[in-house]
Amino acid sequence: MRLYLAVFALLAAVHCEELLNGDQVLRIQAESEDHIQVLKELEKNVDWGLDFWTHGFSIERPVDIRVPDTSLFAFKDFLRDNNITFTVMINNVQELLDRERAEMVMNAEKKYKTKGFNFAAYHNLETIYSFMDSLVASHPDLITKVKIGSTYEDRPMYALKFSTGGEKRPAVWIDAGIHAREWVSHASAVWIADRIALDFKDNRAPVPSILSKMDIFLMIVANPDGYVFSHLTERPIHRLWRKSRSVTSNPKCLGVDLNRNWDAEFSGPGASDDPCGEDYRGPSAQSEIEVKNIADFIMSHGNFKSFMSLHAYSQLLMYPYGFNGTNAPDQPELHEVATQASKALNSWHGTIYKVGSIFHTIEQASGASVDWAYQRGIKYSFAFELRDTGKYGFLLPADQIVSTARETWLALKYIMQYVCEHPY
Ligand SMILES: *[C@@H]1O[C@H](CO)[C@@H](O)[C@H](O)[C@H]1NC(C)=O
Ligand SMILES: *[C@@H]1O[C@H](CO)[C@@H](O)[C@H](O)[C@H]1NC(C)=O
Ligand SMILES: [Zn+2]
Repeated sequence: MRLYLAVFALLAAVHCEELLNGDQVLRIQAESEDHIQVLKELEKNVDWGLDFWTHGFSIERPVDIRVPDTSLFAFKDFLRDNNITFTVMINNVQELLDRERAEMVMNAEKKYKTKGFNFAAYHNLETIYSFMDSLVASHPDLITKVKIGSTYEDRPMYALKFSTGGEKRPAVWIDAGIHAREWVSHASAVWIADRIALDFKDNRAPVPSILSKMDIFLMIVANPDGYVFSHLTERPIHRLWRKSRSVTSNPKCLGVDLNRNWDAEFSGPGASDDPCGEDYRGPSAQSEIEVKNIADFIMSHGNFKSFMSLHAYSQLLMYPYGFNGTNAPDQPELHEVATQASKALNSWHGTIYKVGSIFHTIEQASGASVDWAYQRGIKYSFAFELRDTGKYGFLLPADQIVSTARETWLALKYIMQYVCEHPY
């Protein structure tokens, strides 16, 4: 009997790994320091298989955690025993995954029937890369594809360079998808690439004047290995992959959080030293080839004036620092620029963004890219967390891509114009 139960438990465990049926995302609100201490212990609990969708425990903001079906009962009991309030944010993760997959299959079929690119769909790496080639082909005088290196699994890393000429002009860097599962960031960047090209072609302000003085480099997929992995369908859990795919010191756990691996207070608080952690920082600063490639490219260019990174979700527009609560020397100006940019963004659909330093809006994070950029003298460094605020989290329906991209574009445009008008 005991053996039978053990086998049954094993089968159940295997089954649950395959599907996320019944997994819920809970939004948990700490109300006291005691609660925070209790919750911090959770991060160390590996038995429950918790997946943190947002980070940092604080009284000021809730934290979202995906809880596997098998742990749900025990976990909720644990929260209740500790008087910690929570709400169910996503009732069944698998349902959203199924819906997303069905949508992608439908969109793939559509692709053959209609010509032209479907911006209102999530696409795999191959399709995004071929989109880039056709964009370059349609705008050869404006856009070139720059290969800045290869990934751990030997995939090329590309940035689109929008330039009207000149040598090493002041430049703006925009990247998306450094965290693989944040699909709306890649999808928005695709739409934005197209929009930059169209606005230039149609002579729509302020893009032509921005491009008369500055170059724009846009990297749509900053973590290609992770992105490809997040599209593998044999196990639904792959969709929620965040990190790179490199081997670590723990054979059971792959990947480094590419936004904790930069040479900016590397290994400080706000990053994990455990290879199994979602925010594992890696063995050393820039140990990850993807980070090193971007950092080397930015440094060898030497004339970047703005560095922006697109993430999801939470609707935040943030500036340095993440590594601690000290104000950056340019904090008042960065705050003002971010505030105006978020107003521009809001003017489209009324989407509300919160503005502040990374430390004060999300959590302490060391080794983050915008801190690195800022410390290298790139003053206008910002990180975006796009839609939503948690209804769908990483699984934002594809019919929100275009409106997300459109509003984000208004903020990016504001910042680029500001950078253009404030040379330094
Ligand atoms: C939870 O609240 C109840 C009732 O207010 C109280 O008796 C109990 O001690 C609290 N438990 C914890 C762990 O704080
Ligand atoms: C933040 O980090 C900087 C650089 O390491 C340090 O000089 C400063 O004292 C720190 N501030 C706080 C509030 O910890
Ligand atoms: Zn992210």
